[in-house]
Amino acid sequence: MDSTEKPVSVTLGAAVARRSMGTADSVAASRRWWDADAEDYQAEHGEFLGDADFVWCPERLREEDVRLLGEPGSLVGARVLEVGCGAASCARWLAGQGARVVGLDVSLGMLRQAALAAARSGVTVPLVQAGAEQLPFADGSFDLACSAFGAVPFVAEPAEVMREVARVLRPGGRWVFAVNHPMRWMFSDDPGPDGLTVTQSYFDRAPYVEVDALGAPTYVEHHRTLGDRVRDVVSAGLVLDDLVEPEWPEELTETWGQWSPLRGALFPGTAIFRCRKPG
Ligand SMILES: C[S@@+](CC[C@H](N)C(=O)[O-])C[C@H]1O[C@@H](n2cnc3c(N)ncnc32)[C@H](O)[C@@H]1O
Repeated sequence: MDSTEKPVSVTLGAAVARRSMGTADSVAASRRWWDADAEDYQAEHGEFLGDADFVWCPERLREEDVRLLGEPGSLVGARVLEVGCGAASCARWLAGQGARVVGLDVSLGMLRQAALAAARSGVTVPLVQAGAEQLPFADGSFDLACSAFGAVPFVAEPAEVMREVARVLRPGGRWVFAVNHPMRWMFSDDPGPDGLTVTQSYFDRAPYVEVDALGAPTYVEHHRTLGDRVRDVVSAGLVLDDLVEPEWPEELTETWGQWSPLRGALFPGTAIFRCRKPG
């Protein structure tokens, strides 16, 4: 869950470019990045995420407490798709609630971490390697779909993902996804005072791209304004029931990457869209 921390200059000779990138290039860069980063990501965030826990965001909103997907009983037997599942801790938590869950991710490296976590926790869910832009499932296959910072911030055409999720949901099904709050785009990823100064336009949609010494993209993040995200949801035929902007909890005093009590007290870091396919 950390699209939130742009990995500036991790690759030898890497540089940041701001340039347009289509679907194929974005998928290729994401697959390469997440395959290479899977082990480090799990080492850095695995403890926070847990092996079978559903944490929506760095503000530590837990599905167990907020029930954005539905009341406890409603998960029993529900067919759920986790999009961009990474190590699939959310999927395993849902399985523990009695749901029938499939975890989907574009990165085999991340899915290997899911398999390792399944062995550790004793909870196994089916895993599928595919891009969220073309879901390999029949229409109406799922009652619920969810994503905690998976796929959506990394795709060139998030409207495609919204359309695909709407297609695979049954009428009346629910789709809840968390992304970094669009206003974070304006600031650098510095958790300290320097991260309080606006450095780029909220309206600048040019993707953030890391390139290697040969200019090949190694990491990409795509920006959407809040209005863009709402339009992507609505134009897919979905209804937006709520937009949750979790507040930074007072008791959370640690800094975690770009996430800090200082910034958290002043502006949101996460946006969670709670959507529904009309029944
Ligand atoms: C920040 S991680 C989030 C993983 C997990 N949800 C968590 O909370 O740790 C983003 C995940 O999205 C996946 N991803 C990126 N682009 C994708 C795409 N186009 N389709 C499916 N998954 C994608 C990555 O492979 C990665 O596992």
